[in-house]
Amino acid sequence: MCGIVGILGKGPVAGQLVEALKRLEYRGYDSAGIATLEEGRLTRLRASGKLKNLEEKLAGSPHKGHVGIGHTRWATHGKPNETNAHPHANSRVAVVHNGIIENFRELREELTAKGHKFTSETDSEVVAHLVADGLNAGATPEKAVAAALKRLKGAFALAFLFDHEPDLLIGARRGSPLAVGWSDEGAYLGSDALALAPFATSIAYLDEGDWVALRREGTTFFDAADNPVERRRQPLQTGSFLVDKGNYRHFMAKEIHEQPEVVGRTLAHYLDLAEGTVRLPFELTFDPLKLSRVTISACGTAYYAGLVARYWLERFARLPVEIDIASEFRYRDPPLPEGGLMIVVSQSGETADTLAALRYAKDHGQHVLSIVNVETSTIARESHTVAKTLAGPEIGVASTKAYTCQLAVFACIALALGRARGVLTKEQERALVSELVAAPGQMADALNREAQIEPVARDVARASSVLYLGRGPAFPLAMEGALKLKELSYIHAEGYAAGELKHGPIALIDYAMPVIVLAPPDASLEKTVSNLQEVAARGGHLILIGSPRAKEEAAAELAGFVELPEEVSGPFAAIVYAVIVQLLAYHVAVFMGKDVDQPRNLAKSVTVE
Ligand code: G6P
Repeated sequence: MCGIVGILGKGPVAGQLVEALKRLEYRGYDSAGIATLEEGRLTRLRASGKLKNLEEKLAGSPHKGHVGIGHTRWATHGKPNETNAHPHANSRVAVVHNGIIENFRELREELTAKGHKFTSETDSEVVAHLVADGLNAGATPEKAVAAALKRLKGAFALAFLFDHEPDLLIGARRGSPLAVGWSDEGAYLGSDALALAPFATSIAYLDEGDWVALRREGTTFFDAADNPVERRRQPLQTGSFLVDKGNYRHFMAKEIHEQPEVVGRTLAHYLDLAEGTVRLPFELTFDPLKLSRVTISACGTAYYAGLVARYWLERFARLPVEIDIASEFRYRDPPLPEGGLMIVVSQSGETADTLAALRYAKDHGQHVLSIVNVETSTIARESHTVAKTLAGPEIGVASTKAYTCQLAVFACIALALGRARGVLTKEQERALVSELVAAPGQMADALNREAQIEPVARDVARASSVLYLGRGPAFPLAMEGALKLKELSYIHAEGYAAGELKHGPIALIDYAMPVIVLAPPDASLEKTVSNLQEVAARGGHLILIGSPRAKEEAAAELAGFVELPEEVSGPFAAIVYAVIVQLLAYHVAVFMGKDVDQPRNLAKSVTVE
């Protein structure tokens, strides 16, 4: 949550700060701000709301400073107004912060008693005063920051700019990501490589607890005990970070349409296409035959990917699977089997709860395999094995292509474990791989169904509550569909196991509430259709997403129907059906005039608990 950036350049940096913040807006967009040194003095410019408000303000008051920091906010403490916008500053230092300072109340009381004047409701402002306190006592900026860091509790990434210090930026990381970049034009700090891609040619990541001083003559990294340390510098491939909507109206539309390509690319990475078998691009750090259980943990959409994968791991590898959302898992103190496998799933690789679940599993002797989209992320770096999704940067806040790529990777892992455990024969593996390989083409076909989806979307847009039903892998997909709809359109939606309908939600059925039934032609089709008929019998408002056979068997009056071919069946149909639920949520939101790429209150990367 929140994106931070810092630039120590050779020319005016305000424009570049805004450019970098644009690439970080996916981390929050409640307010934005920059601080630069104008003739040596700290000067701030802040605006509530999206970055464009800051840009407008900046156009009216050009800043010329060659050093500065910037921030885009996802509010945790204090309203999303201008007063609470970062940078927070006093006469000595300005700071931008991503994360939460847990002990800010005590520190605030202590510093207020010493005469520091607070102007915001944020936890972050305490950091500026704590550092100023050290500077007032005569410490150098480096010493003042090092001392302040030791007083802070919580998770954070910070960037500091100092009054009358045109040759210095300091960054620090504990729990939230921070990268340093370099080019001939300057040195940079940023929450991720994406922010730095337009400027930096090489990059290094701070390790947990590190802090860093950027000066024109060089960069010095320090560990948590303030010892100077080296951090590996690597080239930054700017080309791979191009962020643009192409011919699409929204990033989300572009990302939905990229799915056949990126899922295909991801599958190609995990399959031997010539052989028609799975070939994992990494060595397993455990013996699959000795595995007694798999544990999966993740948040949001990534968690729903895990729920789908449970069906595959149980069926193809005959492995018991325990799965929980990371914010619960991490505090449950769950017993884990000796030498078990923990799979964490995360697009960003920075989600705080997922990271904590990973660390718990590691501390409890698990082999940790992470399915991540950002290979340089903290989760990737802390895992024993990284299974990457090749989705490319996902900018739309609501996850789409990362989700289907996660499913593709999970499917390959499930098949590989099934083979290694002797559950699947080579022939069975080949048959399943050929079904999997068909998915990208089927997704491309699903993308052509927009003409069927649009009228359904117009219908759904009138509702205030929507129910999604599915069985088997289509059950978690129903939850994912409901999540997409509520995220984008703010319409209340729930995903339910179709068989559970009669145990409660059936009481809600009336014509005002659309019931969207996901009915791929698999072994549970008949049962799903029975549930559909239970809704029809009560005058329900039915929308069917399924094959012609599902429609025929339903034999009920449908308010909407989105047809997928009969061949989209079997265990991996959920990957293809995902495209339809994404498009439906997208079109509902577009039809309602909602902000598709940046829905209210959300952020893409959630680095707070
Ligand atoms: C946020 C995003 C979701 C995402 C979840 C987990 O809530 O809005 O789209 O699924 O975080 O994020 P991760 O990066 O760990 O997959």
